[in-house]
Amino acid sequence: MDTLASYDELPYDSLPLPETQPDFLAAVARLHGFDAPDPRRARILELGCAQGGNLIPLAWRWPESECVGVELSRVQAEAGMAFIQRLGLSNARIVHGDLAALPDDLGEFDFIIAHGVFSWVPPSVQQALLEACRRHLSPHGIAYVSFNVAAGWQALQPLRAALIERTSAELPAPARFKQALRVLDALESEWRDPFLLKEIAYLKTAAPSYLFHEYLAEFNAPLPFAEFAGLLDAHGLRYVGEAGPRCAVVELEDAWGLVPEGMAGRWRDAEAALDDALAIRFRRALIARDDAPCAQPPQAVALSGLAFHADLRSDEEIDLATASEQAFVNPAGNIFRIAQPVMKAAAMVLSSAYPAAIAYLALLDAARAVLAEHASGAPVEDAVLSEALFQLVTSQGVMPTVWGGPLAAEPGERPCANALARLQAASPGWVVSGARHVAIDLDPAGRMLLAALDGSRSVDELASHMQASLAAAGLELSLERVMELTWQQLWLFARQGLLV
Ligand SMILES: C[S@@+](CC[C@H](N)C(=O)[O-])C[C@H]1O[C@@H](n2cnc3c(N)ncnc32)[C@H](O)[C@@H]1O
Repeated sequence: MDTLASYDELPYDSLPLPETQPDFLAAVARLHGFDAPDPRRARILELGCAQGGNLIPLAWRWPESECVGVELSRVQAEAGMAFIQRLGLSNARIVHGDLAALPDDLGEFDFIIAHGVFSWVPPSVQQALLEACRRHLSPHGIAYVSFNVAAGWQALQPLRAALIERTSAELPAPARFKQALRVLDALESEWRDPFLLKEIAYLKTAAPSYLFHEYLAEFNAPLPFAEFAGLLDAHGLRYVGEAGPRCAVVELEDAWGLVPEGMAGRWRDAEAALDDALAIRFRRALIARDDAPCAQPPQAVALSGLAFHADLRSDEEIDLATASEQAFVNPAGNIFRIAQPVMKAAAMVLSSAYPAAIAYLALLDAARAVLAEHASGAPVEDAVLSEALFQLVTSQGVMPTVWGGPLAAEPGERPCANALARLQAASPGWVVSGARHVAIDLDPAGRMLLAALDGSRSVDELASHMQASLAAAGLELSLERVMELTWQQLWLFARQGLLV
């Protein structure tokens, strides 16, 4: 009941999570030698889906899929159903209920997603979650279950203990949250441990629901990876691989001196050892039924059957002539270092095609063409791209996919955004999702503009409309300035695949 009340009072920010999208999960599974179903026509189940900020964009993207969410908080389930109805989606529904008591007639699913649930529910619900995966996964289905890992959480436990001890569990969630902020201030002057001080500084700026549900929630029992794998065994399930960013093979070799050929038998042990070495806090496990084909460590050779998308930029001039390391950054601010000229060329090709994905061989050809135009030298071997791309894929600088995705439409004479983006922009509490399932951070003016893009206004008319709306909100700007801002936003919407 406490868990339920806290989610009703302080709803979790319900965001699109790129690492849960089934086209990506299917691609990661393939890297592990596992052939997952086609996401476009899949049945997709999300357990603990909150108001559906992750599930609804998937249903909207693939009209032939069938998406079912299950959520214990009535407030969130009802908000999700109301949004689905306003959008007119017929292939999505959110069931208000307990994942530990799923209806018998739910059927089988090709993808089951449970993000941010496993570590935050009582042990009996954890068991029920894994039972639900076994019972409802189709023979080749893939489940995604994220959980907190003991290796990284060990050092954070004193902070959680202090916050629980010094706040009052009887207070309503918002009031207890305010109390927790005051405790953080006090701890900042009392404590000296730089690691904990860094976490405190982060918590003071993080979403309230994050602090509440990680540090004050009744349940948050991080597990060692080996224990989680043991639970899978006990439930007739199999670990397939990791959907979070990893330095995988490279790290395994560097940190543990394991050669790839000798790794197969020790792959999972090495993964667990890496959790300790790198103080890993969070895992996103891909899981299949134990009677499904055997999984293996990720193999670069499987890249040739996949497509890729990336939104990377470099502030430096790109040196295509030498293997000098250059920094590329993604919109989240993560930095990826690329040395191989062919990979730099591939990053340029992918970024200019974003949000569309490019199949491996087409990417190789396009990267070779860029090199031929800008640098001299012998033609590049396939293996050079494959090795560099594999590293970027495992660290998630480049996302693998089995779905080509949309081509970006440019702002037309009368710019028009897709119906999902317009409704998200017009609905307080909803985050706008890009074509690649990323959360797009928009200020109120950006949301206002996006909501107005129904194809009925020219860019001049949009700028006048925005100028009047901003003036009504107390912000006087020249038409010239508003026009400039309007174009900036329109190009951002275009790049995120929001325009039709
Ligand atoms: C931390 S939130 C994560 C929400 C969402 N999956 C995400 O990642 O944004 C956990 C969600 O699980 C829901 N939940 C907790 N126990 C549940 C149960 N027994 N059955 C269904 N949903 C549950 C909560 O209400 C909450 O919305």
